[in-house]
Amino acid sequence: MFVKFFLVIALLQAVCAQQRFEVLVEFGTNFSTLAIDTQNEINELYHFNADMVREFNRELLLELGRMVPEMREADSSFQQQIAAADGVDDECREYVEELRELFLLFQNWDIQDCAYYAHVELADDSVNRFLPYAITFLSENTRSISQVVESFSRNNAVAEFDALVEELDGEWEYYQTLAVSFGDFLFDEILAHADVADHCLTLSATV
Ligand SMILES: *[C@@H]1O[C@H](CO)[C@@H](O)[C@H](O)[C@H]1NC(C)=O
Repeated sequence: MFVKFFLVIALLQAVCAQQRFEVLVEFGTNFSTLAIDTQNEINELYHFNADMVREFNRELLLELGRMVPEMREADSSFQQQIAAADGVDDECREYVEELRELFLLFQNWDIQDCAYYAHVELADDSVNRFLPYAITFLSENTRSISQVVESFSRNNAVAEFDALVEELDGEWEYYQTLAVSFGDFLFDEILAHADVADHCLTLSATV
């Protein structure tokens, strides 16, 4: 009789323990699902970020490309003026020709400077703006997958099971908030590329 009684108790305990343990597995599943969803979102932002950087570089190249023929045109009309000038001797013509070459050199430097500074700004922006945050966020997000095991190691699951569940509840809140706020943050980072690109394009348009 007593043996049976103890057996039933042992069975109940086993079932209860099983049920309690299921909560942990559920947490584990929830953490993994959130981590995968968030990672997919970051992946999309990664592509979006790269597309933006590519587009700004393309626009800048178009702008720089526009400058070269404009400069050639200005130079050839200047040369025509020199050739057509009346009442100047060869020495003067030669002198003006030298000035023209100097002027051409300066113009070239202007375009090169422009490309250089625009490149430095754009490159700095494309490397330092979105990526470091995205990488930090990715690793934090991946950490969440092993959160249940980590919490398990920090808590005494046998004596204080409720404390363990409470901690996991807190972590669950944390990762959910993190996913939303970091998503917004990364999106703002991408939008901020536009300011730098605008500045670079303005820079090249003033040459
Ligand atoms: C897991 O996620 C489901 C669906 O969002 C939710 O109903 C459930 O309460 C979560 N479980 C835990 C242990 O947080």
